[in-house]
Amino acid sequence: MMLLSPTWTAILYLAAAVCFILALKGLSSPKTARRGNLIGAAGALVAVITVFLSVRLENIPWIIAAIAVGSAIAAPVARRVQMTQMPQLVALFNGVGGGAAALVALLELGHATPDAGDTTGLYDLTSVLNPWVGLAIAFTLLVGAVSFAGSMVTFAKLQELMTTRPVVFPGLPVIMAAVLVAAIAASVVVIFTGAIWIAVVLIVLGVATGVLLVLPVGGADVPIVISLLNAFTGLAVAASGLVLGNVLLVVAGTLVGASGTILTRAMASAMGRSVAGILFGAFRGGSTAGSTVASDRPVRSSSAEDVAVLLGYAQRVIIVPGYGLAVAQGQHTIAELQAALEARGIEVIFAIHPVAGRMPGHMNVLLAEANIPYEALKEMSEVNREFKTADVALVVGANDVVNPAAKTTPGSPIYGMPILEVDAARQVVFLKRSMRPGFAGIENELLFEPQTTLLFGDAKDSLGKVLSAVKAL
Ligand code: TAP
Repeated sequence: MMLLSPTWTAILYLAAAVCFILALKGLSSPKTARRGNLIGAAGALVAVITVFLSVRLENIPWIIAAIAVGSAIAAPVARRVQMTQMPQLVALFNGVGGGAAALVALLELGHATPDAGDTTGLYDLTSVLNPWVGLAIAFTLLVGAVSFAGSMVTFAKLQELMTTRPVVFPGLPVIMAAVLVAAIAASVVVIFTGAIWIAVVLIVLGVATGVLLVLPVGGADVPIVISLLNAFTGLAVAASGLVLGNVLLVVAGTLVGASGTILTRAMASAMGRSVAGILFGAFRGGSTAGSTVASDRPVRSSSAEDVAVLLGYAQRVIIVPGYGLAVAQGQHTIAELQAALEARGIEVIFAIHPVAGRMPGHMNVLLAEANIPYEALKEMSEVNREFKTADVALVVGANDVVNPAAKTTPGSPIYGMPILEVDAARQVVFLKRSMRPGFAGIENELLFEPQTTLLFGDAKDSLGKVLSAVKAL
């Protein structure tokens, strides 16, 4: 087969890299996210085809079979996944990426010994096996293995295959330190000798580090760790690009590393935490997960008709959507309720907390699905001063993001997290199924305040009943 010239290869790689950058730009807003995703996928396709056309590959049938098996597994899983299970899926795919980078580095170590050389790389760095190549290989092995193992544990936690609480045991910090020191020692040996069996030991130590790093992280912080591990995978892939002498892998990996780091910091600061606090907080005895036991203290509950009267005769209603709205898939019903209230001349806006739901932008995506206009969605900083002029704050399947304990109770798992200040509204109505707490597992004092009313039931059912009652007013 005629191979592409190095110039054409470089041009196509550049085009793919531009696609990746445009994809990230597109993904920064719900309006352009779909297009961004498609542009990124197109860039990846160009990159894969370019590899086939520019490198004299061996084992092509095996490579095609591996691509077919991967696609046959991933495509149906991605199609079927519920929006609320997205973080697990990201963890799984991310872990596989880290593991793949580590395996590539292991194979290249065989090629990269000075006599074997490497004839496949476009920008062949490995023909001069020097400590820098060894460094890139050791880094990819270690960080790729950490990312693989850490992601698998986060997957197990989010899928509730294991406890979502922080897992700590006596001696954990010492074991962690010993594993890290051993990993650094093994890396040094790999860098200077290229010994394959030490590289395998390094992978095992990386797997142990990944597991030990994620075990002490509690439920509510797990998705932040997924984002951090995503950044790790990006860096491992970038380093594997150096090993293979492939510029596009370096660019794509660096983009993932940088965007993962920015997202990790943004999520941590939205939850009022530091990344170090999330990773090592449990070592100091702090817990990031509470109980799941329902409270039996008395509350004021009412019927859908009563709630409809409150809403139907208000002037200003602020709706606070949360995780429960996504679980109930009540987004279309809430859009109908908004339209019915607006038809009565009532102003309705949505207050969006940055960590409402279970992934960044969860509520924006959910409400966009029901075509709720972006202008009706207000960010926390903007909407908080508006609650005092609202007649009703309607909290639908949200709990932690409105829990005043974040301001009043030092030591609470959510202490320090900025919240939506719904308690300033004249009336507060909660739609939830029971008195069970939210993700952080702590009671919400707001449920017991005199201005609060609860309408128990699945959010979609309750919204449907309230909607019918508003229409009948
Ligand atoms: P949560 O505090 O988890 O509260 C969800 C509420 O929805 C619960 O009170 C639950 O009560 C109710 N609910 C569940 N299913 C329901 C249904 N079918 N119908 C009606 N209600 C239902 O949610 P939130 O306020 O959105 O806060 C998000 C939490 O997740 C925060 O702690 C945040 O730190 C954490 N978190 C967020 C992210 C991101 S990036 N968004 C990532 C990781 C963790 P019942 O069981 O009684 O119905």
